[in-house]
Amino acid sequence: MNRYSLAAAMFPLACVAAVFIPFRKTSSVHAAPATAPVYDKNENLLPPADYREWVYLSSGLDMSYNPKSSGPGGESMFDNVFVDPQAYAKFVATGTWPDKTMLVLESREAKSKGSINLRGHYQGTGLMGIEVHVKDETRFPGGWAFFDFDSPSVHGTLIPQKAPCYSCHAAYGAVDTTFVQFYPTLLPVAQKRGTLSAAFLKENSEPAEK
Ligand code: HEC
Repeated sequence: MNRYSLAAAMFPLACVAAVFIPFRKTSSVHAAPATAPVYDKNENLLPPADYREWVYLSSGLDMSYNPKSSGPGGESMFDNVFVDPQAYAKFVATGTWPDKTMLVLESREAKSKGSINLRGHYQGTGLMGIEVHVKDETRFPGGWAFFDFDSPSVHGTLIPQKAPCYSCHAAYGAVDTTFVQFYPTLLPVAQKRGTLSAAFLKENSEPAEK
């Protein structure tokens, strides 16, 4: 059994476990997958409690598209991307994301002085932010929305559709408004399944500038 079918096999257990996650108690019991998005009555997203146990896609260090990627003092920052296991398994099978996909971008402080480290950066325990990209086809225009979390324990606020998050992701995300070109285990899947966006294929077929 490979790890994808293992994740699928473990899914019924995850459903049972979800009942015991404290902050899900406020929502009504439903048959959706354990990692499906759950909203409160103000349309905010409940925090995905165990996203650190989801599938790890990639880390960026000081990627410059995001103003938040470098703090006020110019200090370095990592971002880590995770996706819920059911969506990952579907992507591997089809090359694109199913409805109810959730992707988490977690920003963390980059440290350089500590223990035996002399060069380079490692991730500190300081969490700088969490943003979640949710696919919920009947709920959001274009099928996707972003939520911003002030901390992992509060509900995430919906970022308005006019925000630059949406236009950059729509224009440059290689698959279905997500940045699969930076997720090394998924890019080959999208290439094989032929699901890369026309814009991404065009950008990559043009000869390099110098
Ligand atoms: C100028 C382009 C750009 C803008 C604007 C932008 N992003 Fe992104 N976003 C990226 C890139 C590039 C990645 C890939 C990060 C990596 O590889 O670590 C990414 C990844 C993400 C991910 C991980 C899942 C995915 O869709 O690939 C989330 C969540 C996310 N961004 C949220 C946001 C939010 C929220 C905003 C607005 C506050 C935003 N982004 C604005 C370029 C952008």
